[in-house]
Amino acid sequence: MLKHFVRIGDLGKEAQVLLQRAGEMKAGRYPGELLRGKILLLIFEKASTRTRLSFEVGIRRLGGQCIFMTPAESQLGRSEPIADTARVISRYNDGVVIRTFSESRLRQIIEYGSIPVINALTDEGHPCQVLSDVFTMYEHRPDLTALKVAWVGDGNNMANSLIEAAGVFGFALTLACPEAYAPDAGVLETTLKAGGRVRLVRDPAEACAGADFVHTDVWASMGQEEERLAREKAFSGYYVDKKLMSLAAPGACFMHCLPAHKGEEVSEDVFEGPASIVFDQAENRLHMQMAIMEWVFK
Ligand code: CP
Ligand code: NVA
Repeated sequence: MLKHFVRIGDLGKEAQVLLQRAGEMKAGRYPGELLRGKILLLIFEKASTRTRLSFEVGIRRLGGQCIFMTPAESQLGRSEPIADTARVISRYNDGVVIRTFSESRLRQIIEYGSIPVINALTDEGHPCQVLSDVFTMYEHRPDLTALKVAWVGDGNNMANSLIEAAGVFGFALTLACPEAYAPDAGVLETTLKAGGRVRLVRDPAEACAGADFVHTDVWASMGQEEERLAREKAFSGYYVDKKLMSLAAPGACFMHCLPAHKGEEVSEDVFEGPASIVFDQAENRLHMQMAIMEWVFK
């Protein structure tokens, strides 16, 4: 049966396997010919630095190859249906990584295609990033079930995947989001029903009190550029500065998926300060991507 990597919530026990494998990849414990002969197509309908590079470098390290494609230079940009594209790409490639807008586009590739699909970010989730972030937290504090994690800001794709991760890995998560920018109600409900320890509050100080890790992200995600002014207003109290970090647990870490807008969601001194582990997060994308590629092709 084909394996797809779409949501962290779908992974169940496999999530722990991926965490262990990312650690082994990081330690260099992998055969360089693991994915020899595999060709991975990367379709990016939104910009990317980390995700694109970590897949490109990762597949080469594992002995495979990749092709990068955007709407601008393919027929996707001229409205060729994704269902037709899915059937075509399945005949040339062994797997596809897609970064797109609605998750329904990715689901159409699964429905019409016949190769493994990896979610490299949609409007609804960013599972590769969040799984890698869980690996980064695990490196610092291996007992994930003992962790208190805070999210400050937009209830966006990152927040949704973090909620699913809290359900799967058992850490306690408190999200502080403005009322009109709450995370996906369905994701929250499913996680809570399955016993996930997730709380939604309004006050960033409440979310960060005693937290071991404080996460945030930009106020306007890709595709929301036109909402920028309204969002700047709505998120004006939702930023991570030294004062907010001082409420967190001693030794707490600051996390951000990047790119960051310093002076908006995070102050320059927190971003550049000793609590910040944002570049460890960025590095770990590579190790987790390698684990994910191995997993889908296994
Ligand atoms: N964090 C992340 O996904 O970065 P890119 O948009 O650069 O891929
Ligand atoms: N929430 C951000 C994450 C970027 C990696 C976005 O979707 O633009």
